[in-house]
Amino acid sequence: MIEGIVKQLDPLPPKSKLIIFGGGFTGQRIASVGRHLGAKVLCSRRRENSKGADFIFNTDKEISHEIFEGATHVLSCIPPLLNGEDPVLNKLKNQLLNSKNIKWIGYLSTTGVYGDAKGEWVNEDTSPRPQQERSIRRLCCEKEWLRTKLPVQILRLPGIYGPGRSAFESLLTGTTKMVDKPGQVFSRVHVDDIAGAVLFLMNLYSQGRNPSVVNIADNLPTNNLEVISFAAKIAKKSLPPTVSFDIAKETMSPMALSFWLENRKVDNKLLCKKLGYSLIYPNFKSGLKNCFSELKMN
Ligand SMILES: NC(=O)c1ccc[n+]([C@@H]2O[C@H](COP(=O)([O-])OP(=O)(O)OC[C@H]3O[C@@H](n4cnc5c(N)ncnc54)[C@H](OP(=O)(O)O)[C@@H]3O)[C@@H](O)[C@H]2O)c1
Repeated sequence: MIEGIVKQLDPLPPKSKLIIFGGGFTGQRIASVGRHLGAKVLCSRRRENSKGADFIFNTDKEISHEIFEGATHVLSCIPPLLNGEDPVLNKLKNQLLNSKNIKWIGYLSTTGVYGDAKGEWVNEDTSPRPQQERSIRRLCCEKEWLRTKLPVQILRLPGIYGPGRSAFESLLTGTTKMVDKPGQVFSRVHVDDIAGAVLFLMNLYSQGRNPSVVNIADNLPTNNLEVISFAAKIAKKSLPPTVSFDIAKETMSPMALSFWLENRKVDNKLLCKKLGYSLIYPNFKSGLKNCFSELKMN
């Protein structure tokens, strides 16, 4: 519920205007919370008539200069291009450098930049060692954003879930895969906590509490089997048989396989202890209960 996120946040300063590049799953949620906090928010999508498209931004269309008029905050939720370039910097770097009112720029990145930690914890001081091509591209984009010397904050995210994108969807369509890889954990974060943390960090940044990199993750990295089993119990669905990773990997897509080849726990102490953000969904259990309640309502 948006109200639950909003009630623990301070309103944004009057006349705040947030431009969100990439109003997909996470971008739309952040836009809703930003609007509830009193900001004017404009969200991009690539195609006309896409839900929530306030303007179109893609590689072959110029955007109107008016979009940036009065902008105080900018957030990019767009992944790197296959050639490693950042779509927003690629097209709009000069416009951003010339925008005098911008107080904060957020860049949604991924904890994939840390690479494999063999199941150990990683935090913002851990040297990134990306192994996947897409994570190497991501780290290049992070560096490019930081090199602009604009007030940039990199926000590193693990697996994002939330209503409409959680373990329940595959349970309901009968496509759940129970892959067993002992010792493997995944970190995750509920989309409402990304929205809450992003708006929280935006306000702190202007108060001089402005680390350049922040992980946004929940408290409980967990084995995937535990997450799916918990979801199945709530939804009263039976589970398919467990398959060992060595067998399952033969039929996995290269993208799915790449996730299983890295094992790390993402530390959130900077966000939750030092900066003081209070998670709405501290672990997968509370988060999945929320996803299920939204599922039942729709
Ligand atoms: N999903 C995860 O578990 C996860 C984990 C860690 C990090 N991330 C990263 O976090 C960010 C937000 O994730 P999400 O799951 O909310 O993403 P999403 O739903 O896929 O949204 C991505 C947005 O970026 C836009 N976009 C993509 N490529 C673009 C391009 N070349 N030019 C212009 N716009 C482009 C999409 O446009 P349309 O709306 O027109 O499609 C969409 O609005 C992404 O950068 C993602 O890579 C995701």
